[in-house]
Amino acid sequence: MEKKNLPENFLWGGAVAAHQIEGAWNEAGKGVSIADVMTAGANGVPREITTGIVAGKNYPSHESIDFYHRYQEDIKLFAELGLNCFRTSINWTRIFPNGDETEPNEAGLQFYDALFDELLKYKIEPVITLSHFEIPYYLYEKYGGFRNKKVIAYFVHYAEVVMERYKNKVKYWMTFNEINNQADGQHDLHVWTNSAIRFKSGENKEEIIFQAGLNELIASAEVVKKGHQINPDFQIGCMMAYVPIYPYSSKPDDVMAAVKVMNRRYFYSDIHAKGKIPGYTLKYWEKMDYQIDYTQEELRILAEGTVDYIGFSYYMSGTVTTLPEITGAVIPDYAGAKIVNNPYVEMSDWGWQIDPVGLRYVLHTIYDRYDLPLFIVENGFGAYDKKEANGQIHDPYRIAYLKEHIKQMKKAVNEDGVELIGYTPWGIIDIVSFGTGEMEKRYGMIYVDKDNAGNGTLARSKKDSYRWYQEVIRSRGANCE
Ligand code: BG6
Repeated sequence: MEKKNLPENFLWGGAVAAHQIEGAWNEAGKGVSIADVMTAGANGVPREITTGIVAGKNYPSHESIDFYHRYQEDIKLFAELGLNCFRTSINWTRIFPNGDETEPNEAGLQFYDALFDELLKYKIEPVITLSHFEIPYYLYEKYGGFRNKKVIAYFVHYAEVVMERYKNKVKYWMTFNEINNQADGQHDLHVWTNSAIRFKSGENKEEIIFQAGLNELIASAEVVKKGHQINPDFQIGCMMAYVPIYPYSSKPDDVMAAVKVMNRRYFYSDIHAKGKIPGYTLKYWEKMDYQIDYTQEELRILAEGTVDYIGFSYYMSGTVTTLPEITGAVIPDYAGAKIVNNPYVEMSDWGWQIDPVGLRYVLHTIYDRYDLPLFIVENGFGAYDKKEANGQIHDPYRIAYLKEHIKQMKKAVNEDGVELIGYTPWGIIDIVSFGTGEMEKRYGMIYVDKDNAGNGTLARSKKDSYRWYQEVIRSRGANCE
C-alpha cells in the first residue's frame, strides 16, 4: 500500500512556553510573572501559589532549562532535527515587567529579536503565544487579574507592541494558551495561570470565571483585529485544550451530559471563532442569575475579531456518566453526572488517558464545527526517562504515543479532509512540567540533565525519539512506523 505523506507546506515543529524553558526570571529588567510564584509540586502533589517570592522555596521557572542563555545551542539541535516551525511564548513580563507601563522594556524586546532571528536563520518559523501563563504578577496584586476589565487594555497594549515589533519575523500568533482549561473551576491552578485570579472565601467561582473568561475573549478579539491592521498576512489563532469527553454509555442521559460538559469548554472557542456569546451560555447565566458585565461595544469587538485558525492541545480524552452504579467525580453540568475513567484506554504514570483515536475525533469534530484551519500545537507523552551508562536514552513509549497520534492525524487529513496547518509536539526538549513543576515528567526528544530538586549540568542529549521524529519529518509523515 502506498504510504501517504503530508503536504509540503505542513508545519512540523515542537512546542514550549517561556516560563517552562527560559529561566533568567529576573534578568534584563524582567518582572515577576504569575508562573514565578508557583512552587514545585510532585506527581500527585499540587503546586503552591505563594504571595510574592518566598525565600527558601523551590520555584522551577526561575532557572527552568536556561534556554535564555542557551537558545543558540538548542535551536541548532532543532534545525538538525528538521523542524520548520517552533512554538514558544513571549514572556509578557520581559516586555512589561508590571504590565501597566506605557513604555516597553527594550532589553526584553531585544531578547526576542535575537531569538526569532536565530530561528529564521535556520528557516524555522516562530509560532508565538502571547499569554502562556506569564501574566505580570503585579496585575494580580494591583487589579485582581482578568476579573478586572482594566487588564484588557494592558494585554492589548502589550500585544500591539510585540506585533508591531516582530511584524516581519512572526506570522503565526495565538492569544491565550488553553483558555478553556479554567472552565470547570475545579482547579484553582488553572484559574491562576489563565486569569491571575485567587478567590476570596465565599466568592462564586463560576461567575467570576465566566467574567474573566469573557474579558480575555474581548481582549483576544481586539488583538486579532489590531494584529490584522498591523500586518494583514498575520495568522492569529486561539489556543484551546481539547479533551473530548465521551458518553460512558449509550444511555441518552450520558450522551446529553457529554454535550453539556463540552459546551462549558466550547464557550471559549465558540466566541473566538463565531464572534458571539453562545445561546446555551446566555440561558445558563439567566438561570443562575449571573450578572456578567459586557457592553454593546464589546459585543461588536467580539464579532469583528474572530480568529483565523483554531490552535489546540490534545493529550487525552475522558468520559462522563449518569449511571448510578459507577462512581466518579461529580460535576454540576448535568443531573447526576460524574467524570469517570474510560475502561477502553490506558493511562500514563500521571493518570492521563491515552487515546490516539480521540485526536482524529477532535480534528473531525472541530473542523465541522468551525470550518477553519486547525493547528495541533501540543501533543505528547510525559514520562520518566532513564539515561543509560553509555549516555543513551531509550524512550520507546514516547515514540509509540507520538506514532499512534500522528497516524490518526494523517487519517484526519488524508481520509476525512480536515485542513491542518501543522503539528508541534509538546516539550520538544525536556522542560519544567506546568501541572506539577517537575523536571522528571519529561516530554522532550532532547534530554536535559536536571532533576526535580534542580540538580544537574543542564547538558542536552538526543533521545531515540529524536532520531525517530527526524525521519518522520524528513518523509513528511510517510515513514511513521
Ligand atoms: C498544557 C500546557 O496544559 O499541557 C503546557 O499548555 C503543559 O504548559 C502541557 O506543560 C503538559 O502538561 P504538564 O502538566 O504535564 O506539563
